[in-house]
Amino acid sequence: MSHILVTGGAGFIGANFVLSWLAQAGADSVVNVDKLTYAGNLKTLASLDGDARHIFSRSDICDRAALDSLLKQYRPRAVLHFAAESHVDRSIHGPADFIETNIVGTFTLLEAVRAYYADLGDAEKAAFRFLHVSTDEVFGSLGPTDPQFTETTAYAPNSPYSASKAASDHLVRAYHHTYGLPVLTTNCSNNYGPYHFPEKLIPLMITNALNGKPLPVYGDGLNVRDWLYVGDHCSAIREVLARGVPGETYNVGGWNEKTNLDVVHTLCDLLDELQPKAAGSYRDQIAFVKDRPGHDRRYAIDAGKLERELGWKPAETFETGLRKTVQWYLSHQSWVEDVISGDYRNWVAKQYAA
Ligand code: NAD
Ligand code: TYD
Repeated sequence: MSHILVTGGAGFIGANFVLSWLAQAGADSVVNVDKLTYAGNLKTLASLDGDARHIFSRSDICDRAALDSLLKQYRPRAVLHFAAESHVDRSIHGPADFIETNIVGTFTLLEAVRAYYADLGDAEKAAFRFLHVSTDEVFGSLGPTDPQFTETTAYAPNSPYSASKAASDHLVRAYHHTYGLPVLTTNCSNNYGPYHFPEKLIPLMITNALNGKPLPVYGDGLNVRDWLYVGDHCSAIREVLARGVPGETYNVGGWNEKTNLDVVHTLCDLLDELQPKAAGSYRDQIAFVKDRPGHDRRYAIDAGKLERELGWKPAETFETGLRKTVQWYLSHQSWVEDVISGDYRNWVAKQYAA
């Protein structure tokens, strides 16, 4: 039986990827390596209970022995690396975990994979891929009229999160250049969709709106992000894994630049339509709060290379993807309730104390 090994497969994008991967006919089995931090949630994968094609290992990517043993046991034909500390605001309050997981963890994983790859036969070596899932935030912040990020844009990370991801991208690049490891890197824009932890903008706004809480917009609300539906990110990753050229990087984006205020307004309008309040609009709950320190003003992705070279295009527009997302949250309130554990509440209290 053929396997792929996925790290961080209990998180938002990793779990969406695992679910969509195993929904394909004839898909390889998945070895899912996840530490289950506050962001990991096995309930997201509940539909795979009893499915022998999903092998879950609660392991830390900093644990070399655990990685060696999983690689040896399952001999995956590819490693897809999603595991990371991923929330910018948390990285500002406490960068240490970001250094540990995103840099030391990626290094440890690369070392384990380097040793595993060295022992593969020629045919297995030719087929093997290490796909590193990264972010557009490594490119820093754009001015209002700057061109979008391309694969050749210089790195200029501004937060501890993006700096730690940039460091991991550099390590991955170096393992190709120095050791010949067949790596692929994707740099994707902001994702949204089902199973998104409600500390990030879109699920936080939906959750707060439904609970009658303020909708905290940082600063003037005019920071711009380029949004991509998570299912489209997963299809891009499958495409890059299948046909990407080792050593290359691919920008992934939805061609959807929106200000945060636009996003929040659209969410409120969708909720007004789908679950109207007794009186007034969800927009009445919008509250401008203190800005994030070092808040990047604008991200924008040119995903042209992926379209030209691999024929990938997003299936969802922002409007269709956001509507699906709001509908998913409305019909999966129990998932949200479960996620909002004590840990999450402590974090929210600290973040929004002011
Ligand atoms: P997430 O925070 O929802 O999930 C991260 C997962 O990694 C969790 O399941 C967590 O338990 C696991 N994890 C954390 N530390 C670990 C460790 N030391 N060992 C093993 N597992 C560990 O993140 P996400 O939003 O799903 O992001 C996944 C990847 O995609 C990250 O690498 C992130 O940088 C990248 N990315 C995210 C976005 C986005 O908008 N969310 C956009 C572009 C790229
Ligand atoms: P976020 O979802 O944290 O993603 P990232 O910082 O990685 O882009 O935030 C998206 C945007 O929304 C970002 O400009 C910060 C802003 N934001 C708010 O205005 N209020 C909030 O409560 C959160 C979490 C984010």
